[in-house]
Amino acid sequence: MAKQGYVFHNNPALLFLLLLLFEAANGGRATRLNHWESGIIRLPSEKDDQQLGTRWAVLVAGSSGYGNYRHQADVCHAYQLLRKGGLKEENIIVFLYDDIAMNELNPRPGIIINHPQGDDVYAGVPKDYTGEHVTAANLYAVLLGNRSALSGGSGKVVDSKTNDRIFLYYSDHGGPGVLGMPNLPFLYAMDFLDVLKKKHAAGSYREMVIYVEACESGSIFEGIMPEDLNIYVTTASNAQESSWGTYCPGMEPSPPPEFITCLGDLYSVAWMEDSETHNLKRETIEQQYKTVRERTSNFNSYTSGGSHVMEYGSTSIKAEKLYLYQGFDPASVNFPPNELSHDTQMEAINQRDADILFLWHMYKNSEDGSKKKEILKQISETMRHRIHLDGSIDLIGTVLYGPAKGSVILNTIREPGLPLVDDWQCLKSMVRLFETHCGSLTQYGMKHMRAFANICNSDVSQSAMEEACVAACSSSHDPTQWHPSNNGYSA
Ligand SMILES: *[C@@H]1O[C@H](CO)[C@@H](O)[C@H](O)[C@H]1NC(C)=O
Repeated sequence: MAKQGYVFHNNPALLFLLLLLFEAANGGRATRLNHWESGIIRLPSEKDDQQLGTRWAVLVAGSSGYGNYRHQADVCHAYQLLRKGGLKEENIIVFLYDDIAMNELNPRPGIIINHPQGDDVYAGVPKDYTGEHVTAANLYAVLLGNRSALSGGSGKVVDSKTNDRIFLYYSDHGGPGVLGMPNLPFLYAMDFLDVLKKKHAAGSYREMVIYVEACESGSIFEGIMPEDLNIYVTTASNAQESSWGTYCPGMEPSPPPEFITCLGDLYSVAWMEDSETHNLKRETIEQQYKTVRERTSNFNSYTSGGSHVMEYGSTSIKAEKLYLYQGFDPASVNFPPNELSHDTQMEAINQRDADILFLWHMYKNSEDGSKKKEILKQISETMRHRIHLDGSIDLIGTVLYGPAKGSVILNTIREPGLPLVDDWQCLKSMVRLFETHCGSLTQYGMKHMRAFANICNSDVSQSAMEEACVAACSSSHDPTQWHPSNNGYSA
């Protein structure tokens, strides 16, 4: 992914580059299939097979802030889709920071959309875990069905039985080995996997399907996901590339002009728009995987927006029909089981640059002089911290390994099939050392997780790492604004 990220931090003139870029992208508008207008023929709903067990779903939007509108929009949309499919509210647990619908920047107060012509997806979404309660710890407690481990929230948990199926969908920023959460710490791959193993050992589900949208989301499972947990996973990207936001202002297809933020994410809208246009009693999980893989690759254009959808875990589950997880909407009975309906490329922006795009649109749209100045300050501070983070990591590499080898070692990508890091505890300690001396990693800095992993993989001691952090950051880091004492450590 590094390729795209570097567009913005090597050059102080990057904003203007950005400006040119998006003005150029403001071309004509293509017509687009509208899936929300399909005719509805209601047939008597088919009786659910009692032997199926209960369908559970856990939906997680791992970010906050209007610039991340799309992640919460994805999750709200997924909720509506599952409800239409017949899943019960009591069996769907939603993690949603919930600062979008009523956000002062939202041009449609109380409404969230996930498609340029889409209807509201917010109404009716249960507020199970919102605000400060959207945490990795609560997600683990919910998955394990352990109410006593919860902190806040509705108390709803996955109280599943041996014969039940679970669908987990996650949308957010990520980095090698981690997924974001609006409240720190991040979700670490090995902690998450331990939860899945515990759940499996408890015998409290039959099968599980997990969809993850995030940068480097493959790294959450690569080399560590067993094949015998009865869990099938697909991720938006492989272990080393960005995932992509879409329906972004100034791009094609573009949101209504009053929106200055992206409405969706490429992989996420691909699976949901696929589910909404097919008969899920006939379409298999594998068919959806293939369609989503095709569309998320943006028809093999990986450089201008597109990533490699990956699969992990128990692939035998792929042969099952989708309705076992996502339910079945009787209105879809005459829909085709599968077809590749999307043959047009969609413009997309990599997750890490989407927030700068948002700030820039906010800047551009603002009329008020002092407000404009404020936003510009915010942009320049964000950029400065990014440059500081990138520079500090480079310096640490140089201090640890010398100028010739530093960046080579830090950027080394292990072979497919190997985990990001051998010692996950070490990874957390290195992150904490870095944040103590160099400031919070932030959403953007997650991309450097691979550097910390490689530091662990090369057996650098804690004290050597501490020395390197002090050397790299003691003079350059502004301790007040970015100190982890403000928002906590990400490990
Ligand atoms: C549930 O969580 C509590 C608090 O973290 C813990 O002490 C307990 O062992 C957990 N119970 C199970 C069954 O895992």
